[in-house]
Amino acid sequence: PVDERVADLLARMTLAEKVGQMLQLDAREDLDDIVLRKHAGSILHTSPAKVLQAAQLNERTRLRIPLLVAEDCIHGHSFWEGATIFPTQLGMAATWDAPLIEQVARVTAAEVAATGIHWTFSPVLCISRDLRWGRVDETFGEDPHLIGELASAMVRGYQGDGLDDPNAILATAKHFAGYSETQGGRDASEADISHRKLRSWFLPPFERVAREGCRTFMLGYQSTDGVPITVNDWLLNDVLRGEWGYSGTLITDWDNVGRMVWEQKLQPDYAHASAAAVKAGNDMIMSTPGFFQGALDAVASGMLDEADIDRAVARVLSLKFRFGLFEDPRLPDSHRMGTVIGSAEHTSLNLDVARRSLVLLRNNGTLPLAGGLTAGSDGRALPSGRPRRIAVVGPLADDAQTQLGDWAGSSGQVDWMPDGHPREQIATVLDGLRAHVPADWTVTHAEGAGILTLAEDPAGAFFPDGQPRPQIVVPTAPDRSQIAEAVTAAEQADVVIAVVGDRIELVGEGRSTATLELVGGQIALLEALAATGKPLVVVLIASKPLILPPVVDGAALVWAANPGMRGGTAIAELLLGLIEPRGRLPISFARHAGQQPTYYNQIRGQHGDRYADLTQSPAFAFGEGLSYTSVEYKDLEVEATDLRSDDVVRAHVTLRNIGTRLAHEIVQVYVRDSVTSVSWADKELKAYRHVELQPGASERVDLVVPVAECTIVDAAGHRRIEAGEFELLVGPSSRDDALLSEGFRVADSPEGDWGH
Ligand code: IFM
Repeated sequence: PVDERVADLLARMTLAEKVGQMLQLDAREDLDDIVLRKHAGSILHTSPAKVLQAAQLNERTRLRIPLLVAEDCIHGHSFWEGATIFPTQLGMAATWDAPLIEQVARVTAAEVAATGIHWTFSPVLCISRDLRWGRVDETFGEDPHLIGELASAMVRGYQGDGLDDPNAILATAKHFAGYSETQGGRDASEADISHRKLRSWFLPPFERVAREGCRTFMLGYQSTDGVPITVNDWLLNDVLRGEWGYSGTLITDWDNVGRMVWEQKLQPDYAHASAAAVKAGNDMIMSTPGFFQGALDAVASGMLDEADIDRAVARVLSLKFRFGLFEDPRLPDSHRMGTVIGSAEHTSLNLDVARRSLVLLRNNGTLPLAGGLTAGSDGRALPSGRPRRIAVVGPLADDAQTQLGDWAGSSGQVDWMPDGHPREQIATVLDGLRAHVPADWTVTHAEGAGILTLAEDPAGAFFPDGQPRPQIVVPTAPDRSQIAEAVTAAEQADVVIAVVGDRIELVGEGRSTATLELVGGQIALLEALAATGKPLVVVLIASKPLILPPVVDGAALVWAANPGMRGGTAIAELLLGLIEPRGRLPISFARHAGQQPTYYNQIRGQHGDRYADLTQSPAFAFGEGLSYTSVEYKDLEVEATDLRSDDVVRAHVTLRNIGTRLAHEIVQVYVRDSVTSVSWADKELKAYRHVELQPGASERVDLVVPVAECTIVDAAGHRRIEAGEFELLVGPSSRDDALLSEGFRVADSPEGDWGH
């Protein structure tokens, strides 16, 4: 019946109404024009009041086709005051916990749906490789397997048990595909990437969610081989719609169609650009108002067939029918908004995610601050230890906005949210420590350094089509009096917690950074603090891996990404030892910006392992993360070593907690294909398992990897298993010296594409 309803409606629509259905326009613009004159099928960047206003206007249209309402709710409900803001996607990835991330998406969907939004532009499946890129924080990191696991969980969480669930929203896999493969880290630059490289690493996570039913895909801004993804016939039609059988909706990114005219100079006018975008199979055109007239002109001049428009509109209408919008337009529901948004249950999940996302990268014996706690301490009250004086210093100790990260309030990308999130809902590190230290401890605070100021940009524009971006970031010089104040606080304390990192203005779309270092007065501050000789703990609230100065080598180090509303509480608990550190890096940390890229699964054969002036190894590798205990890995054993391509590798490894506190271990399983017909990654993550061990306890852990996962993409672009020798590598991180190894053999190489 959906097909019949679509055909019936389509037959009654004028060409202008059909073109309008393909448009998604910015609700901050003139709603009368959007709804009444352009017949837009969808709006984005809105508010419950605007949604209601648009719905009322829609009642005045001839066919009253309900509007789809979309928003970037990518780590919680970004624009609604008081909504739950979780750690950023990169922070969530550090949990390596797909079921947890599915819950995050469920909760986000419930909050988002209550405000009348039907569609979120999440998850991001881009692979982060160049750390200078401004959108590393929005990704799940650098590994295709981990990205696939977590993105699939997030899509399941958003889309729920089916579209008739009132708490389900549409998910978007973005940015299809290769957008993150930037040049010099610059956002939206041409992605210099071959089809084979796309198939090897960039496409597999997208293929997975396409096959699993992700309803919409968003196309990146970039061109590949000279062709913008918006009109890339090979990627959209041969691969996505053809090979993968994807029947969902394709939406462009922001003004991709207009950009072909005014920015990339690939089309002479909007008629040509609109025709090209429709013919390539796009269903919805984001934020290109000129598409409306452009598509009409293209049909009038014979450049475009109305049948091409019909195909796209049919997919949009079919989505609306399947989502039940004609029966219930799913308008904002003030009762649900009052009960669901920011509920105690959601806040408690948020705290749990933040706790699990923190990565302890180094310990100098200072942590946990309340020594003497023993096993099983998660969540329990802190016994009053010896009196301690804590100096909490640094520009991010009490910076609520940066802690939330991008897409989360007024000063990031989301400048249409008027008032930001209520400060009292956000616990900074300073708040967390003040709330959690025993009564006889003291907490003093000094900012110690600035990070940046904003200045007028003489060039004056972000987007050449007139959207102004008048400010640029200028690092602030070290302020000696600020540093002196922090040093005084440090000298009067038993331990110093320095909270440093990057700030929201250094993060986001169009905000790549040339440097990866701690900017402003932060390095001078850390050097001055270290010179006091006091035990130093560095908490890095950083949207992406930053380069750490040598002075940090002697400090304890915790990376917290942008840990969301409850981040400060989680960090305080971790520092004090109320919880165990359990996050693992989803992305490698470089030692120097010139080392880019530093991802672990690089292809083999790079003339040794060092630059003339520096090792090539990262500062911290993918998968690394310490705990307050030590876990020993031994006796890796592969059950059967002679296998066929349809077999499963079954192995066991024994873990023993040889420390005195609870261990939350993530056992990582990598595969090395010993000889390959094409250059290939030296090892790739294929599986992981979470294991909890009491002090002194041992466990024999079962591991399973289907041989079908042990593939390469051959020179002709086909994914294949190649017969021969493999190694199974098991351990606590991707570092070779952390991994146990056992060999196995695969006897056959089936013809054709295999596995993914
Ligand atoms: O969803 C985003 C996308 O990731 C980047 N450009 C703008 C879109 C809508 O806000």
